[in-house]
Amino acid sequence: MNERSFVLKGTICHSQSPDTLSIMDNAYVVCENGISAGVFSVLPERFQNLPLKDMGEKLITPGLVDLHLHAPQYCYRGTAMDLELLEWLNTITFPQEAKYKDPDYAQKAYSIFAQDLKMSATTRACIFGTLHVDATVLLMDLLEETGLKTMVGKVNMDRNGSPDLQEESSQASAADTRKWLSQVIGRYQNTQPILTPRFIPSCSDDLMRRLSEIQKEYQLPIQSHLSENFSEIAWVQELCPSSRFYGDAYSQFGLFGGEDCPTIMAHCVHSTDEEIALMKERGVYIAHCPQSNTDIASGIAPVRRYLDEGLHIGLGSDIAGGFSLSIFRAMADAIQVSKLRWRLLDDSLKPVTLEEAFYMATLGGGSFFGKVGSFEKGYEFDALVLDDSNLRHPQQLTARERLERFVYLSDARNITEKYISGNIITSNTLQGI
Ligand code: GUN
Ligand code: FE
Repeated sequence: MNERSFVLKGTICHSQSPDTLSIMDNAYVVCENGISAGVFSVLPERFQNLPLKDMGEKLITPGLVDLHLHAPQYCYRGTAMDLELLEWLNTITFPQEAKYKDPDYAQKAYSIFAQDLKMSATTRACIFGTLHVDATVLLMDLLEETGLKTMVGKVNMDRNGSPDLQEESSQASAADTRKWLSQVIGRYQNTQPILTPRFIPSCSDDLMRRLSEIQKEYQLPIQSHLSENFSEIAWVQELCPSSRFYGDAYSQFGLFGGEDCPTIMAHCVHSTDEEIALMKERGVYIAHCPQSNTDIASGIAPVRRYLDEGLHIGLGSDIAGGFSLSIFRAMADAIQVSKLRWRLLDDSLKPVTLEEAFYMATLGGGSFFGKVGSFEKGYEFDALVLDDSNLRHPQQLTARERLERFVYLSDARNITEKYISGNIITSNTLQGI
């Protein structure tokens, strides 16, 4: 027995499938050595010697997973949202990311990011850095200290950047990637590298070939962007005339899913039937980022179709295309934009439900990290304890109604405790918030 073995009592909610949410009042969830032993209405004899924390009325859910965000963009979230993707990258994003060449700036900006992510509902995240090796290692050092489990990428970009934000050549980009990997592999418990070609317009064919070699050599997962915006998609077709569709431009280099190349593609707003079929075949994860898709006017992804066809899908904040770090907020956005899509674009694709949004935020994205996102026996024990006592109501609400209000009304102050793999990460009780 150790500190990572205990029992929490409260109202326990977790997804069993995309459309099934299990909710049990006055129930027990058992953590043994950081792994869930399951949820019980009566605590089995064999766990009665473990320390029990009675959370009373509070809700207990799995931790939330952010499958896509950009750490260097955190500082300007909530600004410059009147542009579409390509203009936004050139005029706002690239000049901002260029600042991370300066280690003092990176230290300042990334410290704020790491602290805020720690206090959020997010327990696991897949994060883009910048092309700078030193700043990306610093970001990983800071994230490691938070106890959050993250995958972090040094970004690759050897073309179509700006004078201040572009690698000199494909050779230089690959060499910096190897330098970064030599510094970070084996250095952390919580933080892993993920290969991060920014998107096809940023990466020459020769760079993609070199990244493919690195991916195989180190058996790394990869993350990138796919079919986000109409001008971007047309540009990819010009840059890669031999590709049949955008995803094929990654696939030609062996960087599009499959058992040996776990892959996250952000957005997939305008994916073609062929692209969707290939994502399904290769088990590519879609990071659905509804707030970003709204802010930079990219469109609305057909999430109902992805869910019904059984594709892997989770949620992303896509800071700073999105302005909010909250994955509760991403759930609300996913539901809301799906209603607009259904009403205005295609009434055959029904809106996303609360159950489905919760699934995407927990088990849907969590499975990219392994057995993560559920309290089923054998899953890593990532949990949030949620206090809604400030969201006052004159009636007695059901647990499902309370969870729904959390999605729309909560903020970081409603999180009483956060656990990752059975380790306590934050506790408002301790901090007196
Ligand atoms: N495509 C390439 N880079 C980016 C980025 O930083 N944000 C978003 N939303 N899309 C991208
Ligand atoms: Fe992004």
